[in-house]
Amino acid sequence: MPTALELRNVSKSFGTFHAVQGLSLSVPVGSVYGFLGPNGAGKTTSLRMILGMLLPDTGELSVLGSPSAMAVRNRVGYLPEEKGLYRKMTAAAAIAYFATLKGVAYGEAHIRARKLLDRYGLGAFADKKIETLSKGMGQKVQVLSAIAHDPELVLFDEPFSGLDPVNQEVLEEILIDLKARGCTILFSTHVMAHAERLCDRLLILGGGRGLFEGTVSEARSVLPVRISLETVEPTPLLEALPGVRHLEARGEGRWQLELEPGASASAVLEACFERSLRLRRFDVREPDLHEVFVHLVGPSAREASLR
Ligand SMILES: Nc1ncnc2c1ncn2[C@@H]1O[C@H](COP(=O)(O)OP(=O)(O)O)[C@@H](O)[C@H]1O
Ligand SMILES: [Mg+2]
Repeated sequence: MPTALELRNVSKSFGTFHAVQGLSLSVPVGSVYGFLGPNGAGKTTSLRMILGMLLPDTGELSVLGSPSAMAVRNRVGYLPEEKGLYRKMTAAAAIAYFATLKGVAYGEAHIRARKLLDRYGLGAFADKKIETLSKGMGQKVQVLSAIAHDPELVLFDEPFSGLDPVNQEVLEEILIDLKARGCTILFSTHVMAHAERLCDRLLILGGGRGLFEGTVSEARSVLPVRISLETVEPTPLLEALPGVRHLEARGEGRWQLELEPGASASAVLEACFERSLRLRRFDVREPDLHEVFVHLVGPSAREASLR
């Protein structure tokens, strides 16, 4: 599969502090890639290196086939972590201005700006100055200004932060539309729900290091599936159930089972039937991304907060 973005063993230090250490990742063309990590994990530093705003100390980068994003800047869209547009400009003018900086002709840029504002429910605000818009609306305008030149690759740093739930949904819609057009998207976040819904692949970063890289379902399988079991029999035969690696009594006839990675809960259920156990309850709980995130980054995030 062709890649839109590749990092090989990229590191960056500030003085003696290692902000990013040996980071490698590969983002397939047309995919949505989540860049997940707690505060201080090195997400923004990595994005700045991808964009060519910071030079890595070591390692190699490839952005749309080029070693420097600067050479392909008109094909890349960027939403910085520090949000804010020139407050005296109108929404349409701000979007059009950024599009012209990325090579779109003036008239065409203005047409696109209005189309985008209409498409995402901001048409009535096209001629309003940014300073009169709410923070969330201003942020949406900034997102549109990052995509009005029709980029092949977008890099969004914490695009969801500061948006209310309704505007978060609009932003999800924008990302889904971009993907449908074939655009490759990388966004950073520390809110797992967005990543879980949107990402094809993700990287979990902690203390400047990649702790996990893969699909959402691969990430989930980092932690075991658990089954809560309740049987009519007070002491059922639960030894040697397939794929069960840990069994814990939780009271009379109540048990918690922990499965081995990749083991199937339905095989356990079948085995219970074969043993003619009378089940009151059989609840399967798969770990979600939030739990996996806390499990992986918990130690490094705590260290960082003590620094
Ligand atoms: N210019 C800089 N000088 C010194 N330290 C920096 C600089 N930029 C970032 N850092 C440090 O690098 C670490 C990673 O920062 P950052 O990439 O902004 O993390 P994130 O975006 O994941 O919250 C933080 O501890 C931060 O304080
Ligand atoms: Mg950041």
